[in-house]
Amino acid sequence: MNTTNKTITICMGSSCYARGNVYNVETIQCWLRQHGLEDNVELRGTLCEGLCRQGPIVKIGDTVYKGVTPSSIAEILAHEFPEVENG
Ligand code: FES
Repeated sequence: MNTTNKTITICMGSSCYARGNVYNVETIQCWLRQHGLEDNVELRGTLCEGLCRQGPIVKIGDTVYKGVTPSSIAEILAHEFPEVENG
């Protein structure tokens, strides 16, 4: 498995941002730092993805996660990066 070159895209549109991505972005940054992945994983913001009702939206690679919360994001990251789960 290769953790490098994976991209995490966080919707920074006003709806997603206000509904939780303001916290999710911090949680993700912190998780990547703790697992030594901050240099390997690209974290970028995007504007509204047109999925506001199902937000907050976080995309990892090609997978779109909906209704992401700071508590669910840890599970999602562990699932996406299984090789570092024990790190
Ligand atoms: S603000 Fe995120 S999908 Fe619209």
